[in-house]
Order: sequence, then C-alpha cells, then structure tokens
Amino acid sequence: MSKKHPEEQENIVLIGFMGSGKTSVGLRLSYKFQKTVLDTDKLIESREGRSISEIFASDGELYFRDLETKLLKELAQRLHNRILSVGGGTPLREENRKLLKEIGTVVYLRIRPDTVYERLKGDTVRPLLQTEDPLGRITELLDRRKALYEAAADVIVDVDGLEMEEVLERIAAGLRKKEEQ
Ligand code: S3P
Repeated sequence: MSKKHPEEQENIVLIGFMGSGKTSVGLRLSYKFQKTVLDTDKLIESREGRSISEIFASDGELYFRDLETKLLKELAQRLHNRILSVGGGTPLREENRKLLKEIGTVVYLRIRPDTVYERLKGDTVRPLLQTEDPLGRITELLDRRKALYEAAADVIVDVDGLEMEEVLERIAAGLRKKEEQ
C-alpha cells in the first residue's frame, strides 16, 4: 500500500501563543486540505457550558489545564483526518506534548511578542492577558514557553509579517519536508 501524505490522511495539530493565528489558520487549512477543524478551547467551553474566562475565574487555571489534558487523551483515541487547534498553554505539560504528537503532525505558529501585542491589545477574553502591562506579560510568558513550543513541534513557521497565503504555503512546505525525512 502506498504511503499517504500527512495532509491527505493524518491529523494536523496547530500550536502557538495566543494571537498566533491558530483559529484562522485552522479554518483556512481545513478548506485547503478538506479536513474538518476542531478547537480544544471551543470544545471545553461547550462541554462546560461556560467561557474559558468563567472557568478560570470560578475554578482556577489548574482545573482548566486538567480539562485540556483529559480532552487530549480522548482525542488521541479517536481523531482522524482533522485539523486540531489547541489553546496557547496546552503544550506546556510534558504529558500534553506527548499526546499532541500521538494525535498528529504538530505545526507551531511562532510569533514575536510585539506582533502578539499588536494583534491582541484590547482583548478581554483571555484571562492571562488581563493585566496592567499586557506586553510585559506576553514577553514573559513567551520567554518561558518558547523552548516547550519548539520541543512539541514537528514543523515551525514564523508568522510575523506574513500574509495568510504565505503562512499556508509555508505550512504545506513544512509538512512535505517532514514527510520526506
Ligand atoms: C491560553 C490560551 C488561550 C486559552 C486560555 C489560556 C494560554 O487559547 O486556552 O486563555 O495559556 O496561552 P488561545 O491560544 O486560543 O487564545
């Protein structure tokens, strides 16, 4: 049997910091590769019947992180031919990084703090950015997370200054290259 291209049959997992474009890139990839897109934040919100902000406020971040891990375990059992976009903090746990790799080819949308800030200033739905100094917070979080995102990734695409089409082309090229390895 001939080997299938990852973009034909496998899951593609999008990781990256808040504002890196996981949701919009996921939607476009879903058209490009004819795969349905799923988003772990949205799944968690619909199962819990409340927003991420409400979950953080009532039950705390750790409760939310446990929900993420539980969901990834479930998805690792049953997901095929999908684009999966996950929350910005999902790859921080080692267990999650393993699960993400089990689920599919992991594409990291890498972004600089200033680009995140430009895209998300005024954001009110991300609990971790509700602070006096969002740029400082973004810089600090990205600094802490950088190596973990890289460890989780099979393909890395730097998105700063790129149009959506270029991002999509670089992802497709990265997936082809990964497959040739
Ligand atoms: C988080 C990112 C958010 C959401 C939650 C925590 C993070 O998802 O999961 O607010 O820790 O970076 P997006 O990356 O989709 O904004």
